[in-house]
Amino acid sequence: MIIGFCGSGSMAAAMARGLAGQVGSMLFTDSGSGRAARLASELGGEAVGSNHELAERADLVVLAVKPAKLDEAAKELSGAKVVVSLLGATSLQRVRGVFPGSEVVRVMPNVGVEVRKGVLCVAGGPDAELRKVLEGLGHVVEIEDSEFDAATAVMGCAPAYLALAVEAIADAGAADGLDAELARELVVETTVGTAELLRVRHPADVRKAVASPGGSTEAGLEALDREGARGAFEAAVRASLERMRG
Ligand SMILES: NC(=O)c1ccc[n+]([C@@H]2O[C@H](COP(=O)([O-])OP(=O)(O)OC[C@H]3O[C@@H](n4cnc5c(N)ncnc54)[C@H](OP(=O)(O)O)[C@@H]3O)[C@@H](O)[C@H]2O)c1
Repeated sequence: MIIGFCGSGSMAAAMARGLAGQVGSMLFTDSGSGRAARLASELGGEAVGSNHELAERADLVVLAVKPAKLDEAAKELSGAKVVVSLLGATSLQRVRGVFPGSEVVRVMPNVGVEVRKGVLCVAGGPDAELRKVLEGLGHVVEIEDSEFDAATAVMGCAPAYLALAVEAIADAGAADGLDAELARELVVETTVGTAELLRVRHPADVRKAVASPGGSTEAGLEALDREGARGAFEAAVRASLERMRG
């Protein structure tokens, strides 16, 4: 399968890195920055001269431009067979409206796709072949088009929030004298193990299992409560939703 990326920014790069070696070939365009050529040379794909050529040659076009560029890109991509829209806060109906002759699927991936451990929310009924491609990038969940904003706020944005927590905990360890690299390694591997555990246990059970009464984790959780950690995460999700809904 030939996959064409219209847009070669952060999300196109993450997806293309995850797909490298799993699909026939990859084509890239940008709006003049040179990022398409850099990505093509990193991954062994090809930067093509125009979106028109991209639409002609690709079996599937991944639309990875900012939402404000949708109309412009759609004009240049007319004739694309299948379009996978990654556009945040842009309904399936809106994208289908500007690609009348194409099959359109909406996908919201997160950056974990780069290491094939992403979450991909999907609407629009991908066929079996496309579903297999997406499953190569991580955990695929079909949701309603109307659920995308809320889903994006918790899975699209969350890698940044979780990364902040990892950074803060590791920095605090380093402040007490641990080597900074070692502190980061300890927290990252702890995060990986905790994520696996959270697949089989409820978050409240994991908290309870670690925080024995009167112990050091309990003191830590009390400090997090005092500092408003839960409220801060809730505020982050609300702020993301407000920005998305303009
Ligand atoms: N970043 C994320 O974690 C994430 C997660 C899920 C979904 N998304 C969605 O993915 C889309 C891209 O986000 P991003 O963070 O990757 O943005 P980005 O880093 O700003 O990249 C946008 C890319 O689009 C290119 N572009 C603009 N107009 C174009 C045109 N007419 N033809 C071809 N390329 C064009 C830009 O070209 P230049 O390089 O020349 O500027 C750039 O390469 C957005 O709609 C966003 O909602 C992002």
